[in-house]
Amino acid sequence: MEDVEELEAKLEEIFRKEEKKFKRIKDEEYYKVRQLAFDQRTVRSLLKLFNKGVLYDLTWVISAGKEALVLAGMGPEGEVAVKVYRVYTANFKKYVDYLAGDYRFIPVKDRDKIIRMWAKKEFRNLKRLREAGVKVPKPIDVTGNVLVMEFIGKDATPAPLLKDLESLDDPESIMNSIIEDIRKAYREAELVHGDLSEYNIMYWEDSHWIIDVSQAVVITHPLAFSLLLRDLERVTQFFYRRFKLTVPDPYKLAEEISG
Ligand SMILES: Nc1ncnc2c1ncn2[C@@H]1O[C@H](COP(=O)(O)OP(=O)(O)OP(=O)(O)O)[C@@H](O)[C@H]1O
Ligand SMILES: [Mg+2]
Repeated sequence: MEDVEELEAKLEEIFRKEEKKFKRIKDEEYYKVRQLAFDQRTVRSLLKLFNKGVLYDLTWVISAGKEALVLAGMGPEGEVAVKVYRVYTANFKKYVDYLAGDYRFIPVKDRDKIIRMWAKKEFRNLKRLREAGVKVPKPIDVTGNVLVMEFIGKDATPAPLLKDLESLDDPESIMNSIIEDIRKAYREAELVHGDLSEYNIMYWEDSHWIIDVSQAVVITHPLAFSLLLRDLERVTQFFYRRFKLTVPDPYKLAEEISG
């Protein structure tokens, strides 16, 4: 990748390929996603990643949501997921509140800085969780508002989310290993995910993979216990509803994990 023009041409190509997929999204949303991808900061960060050798190629759009655009790419170790963050007005307060309770980050008001801190926060959370043995994608690099991590899935097909699975060989053991990871996260990494549900857990090679850890908070955060409880409620409720499992009481679990 030589320069901005070349990178923009590449993004243009990806978006053209993906147009069909975007037809399902409202015009306004499509415009916003494009705007984020072509944003000067994003382009600059992506270019840096190419120059550092972290990225060889960008291939397609994995997901385009309110808070992030996730692109597929290629790096020296194979397929990677490239998460591009966006801070949008409606959620601005959330970022400030979450960062404020976290001693690792000095509070700032600057929007650009917040978004970079947010990307960095997910990178550090992933690292810490991985070190504690929690099943999360391996973080590879963070530059500006762009995070590069291990791709969960294979041959340009991302692993399914838990919410999209109709059946599981052994749902009980999967639920138990997710609860085990929540415990490890709390006890060893001293983090609470804070937005855990069937929407942020992937399933690949007989195992769950926890993703989207940008909002995870340290256990000293004033919201830590209530977030821990909510994570456990959502996970157990999902297994109860979808697989008719007998599930443990989330409140007891939360007390036991944090006790
Ligand atoms: N490491 C990864 N490998 C493969 N796919 C991924 C990876 N990380 C994220 N994805 C895909 O991208 C989607 C969005 O990622 P994530 O949940 O981290 O973003 P988000 O903050 O929830 O953004 P949104 O605003 O879209 O909800 C996931 O649901 C998943 O399908
Ligand atoms: Mg998500």
